[in-house]
Amino acid sequence: MRILLASSEAAPFAKTGGLADVAGALPKALAKLGHDVRVVLPRYRGVDPVKFQLRQVLTSLSVPVAGRTADATIWEGAIGSVPVFFVGHDGYYNRDALYQTQDGDYPDNAERFAFFSRAVLEMTRALGFLPDIYHCNDWQTGLVPTYLRTSLQGTREFQAAGALFTVHNLGYQGLFGPEALAMANLGQELFNPFGLEFYGKVNLLKAGLVFADLITTVSRKYSQEIQTEEFGHGLEGVLRARAKDVYGILNGIDYDEWHPSRDAFIAATFSPDDLSGKAVCKADLQRAFGLQERPDVPLLAVISRLTPQKGMDLVAEALDALLDLDTQFVLLGTGDANLHKAFEGAKARHPSCVGLQLGFDVGLSHKIEAGADMFLMPSRYEPCGLNQMYSLAYGTAPVVRATGGLDDTIQPFDPGTGEGTGFKFAGITPQAFLEAVRAAVGLYRQPDTWRRLIRNGMACDFSWDRSAREYEALYQQIVDRRTGRP
Ligand code: ADP
Ligand code: GLC
Repeated sequence: MRILLASSEAAPFAKTGGLADVAGALPKALAKLGHDVRVVLPRYRGVDPVKFQLRQVLTSLSVPVAGRTADATIWEGAIGSVPVFFVGHDGYYNRDALYQTQDGDYPDNAERFAFFSRAVLEMTRALGFLPDIYHCNDWQTGLVPTYLRTSLQGTREFQAAGALFTVHNLGYQGLFGPEALAMANLGQELFNPFGLEFYGKVNLLKAGLVFADLITTVSRKYSQEIQTEEFGHGLEGVLRARAKDVYGILNGIDYDEWHPSRDAFIAATFSPDDLSGKAVCKADLQRAFGLQERPDVPLLAVISRLTPQKGMDLVAEALDALLDLDTQFVLLGTGDANLHKAFEGAKARHPSCVGLQLGFDVGLSHKIEAGADMFLMPSRYEPCGLNQMYSLAYGTAPVVRATGGLDDTIQPFDPGTGEGTGFKFAGITPQAFLEAVRAAVGLYRQPDTWRRLIRNGMACDFSWDRSAREYEALYQQIVDRRTGRP
């Protein structure tokens, strides 16, 4: 099949979170299955044509947007053998960040991503690469299925095209004022509850949910959760109405990037049979954060966007009590200013036990996965979550809240049978979280049992291959539907 994966980010070119990891890895797995798969994303300022060896393939592509046409340039690079296209437009994408400044979202985000979505379609037409499936991801690409089924409906080149829409996070919906419809060159007739309207606004995630042939999200559990009021962010009704088209496919992890036996970012490599390198990584991490170099102290870690979704307020509240258990804590992340303040306060109170890096640093994230003993993810909701899987691979025990992909990927350790890979809790309270960490710290002090636990985790296989086959089956289902095959 010909597949085009459209995403607003993809590693290694542009990344703010897990979507980039997925868009960078899934296409490689699909290519291995024999598909002609390509990726498209905006050419942000950080996508340096020299560093990434890009070549320009279209110098001027007319794209209808906001009642006029604007010109895009199209560039081509690669992830391994997978071609990657970049939609260039200086006015829209030559900026410091992908989506926002410190003061909030870019005010023209509706126009920026309407342009991107339409450019994706115009590009395929101009290049003569007409995919069977447009695999769209999150609200930034919600207009791709919309154009296919509205403005471009009946156009010869797009007649057979199918659209799969993947929700990576229902909490980010791309909500704009009613004028966004005109920005997107769409008619007012779509401004109703069966179209893009959502409580008086235009909702671009809903656009994807309404117009795609099939919908997926990134774990089985989350695919069920989002159909309930508690997790639906107001879209549970839309999702329930399409329940038979909603699937959960767990993300995989890219073992080319995340494997302790060949990771170039870490101080020493290691494997389940020889964990000595992990001790070297731990000492290296303690040094990097200016902590006491103690091999015996449980080292707890967080790498996260600091937002309410991730439950980081629970960590901040429980932190003093955690440190009372004679532990160390390191955090890499950015986000809410009050959480920055809370963690800076903890560092000031416990300078030799707390390490902070309030920034984004891919190399350091690998060092943390390799050097820590426990990884904390008390998320309020978590569509999939990648760091708990990276943690398992690196012999770092995850402590997670039982939600979404965290619930699907972590089995609680049972000291009786020696089975299980981590620690889980249910309540959204600092106490419930603290109890789970206390259990983990207790077990850490029994080295033989601990080794058993982390070896269980290292033996798990989350490679993309299985998930890629599940996507393949859904792509095929769409193609069959569109060509009227039974
Ligand atoms: P989300 O996409 O909701 O942020 P995921 O667990 O799916 O959560 O993915 C987060 C990805 O972003 C992981 O690869 C993680 O290592 C990375 N990440 C998050 N914060 C940082 C940071 N401050 N520095 C480096 N990498 C980060
Ligand atoms: C989102 C989710 C995260 C998921 C990632 C990749 O950002 O918050 O749980 O792992 O997308 O699908």
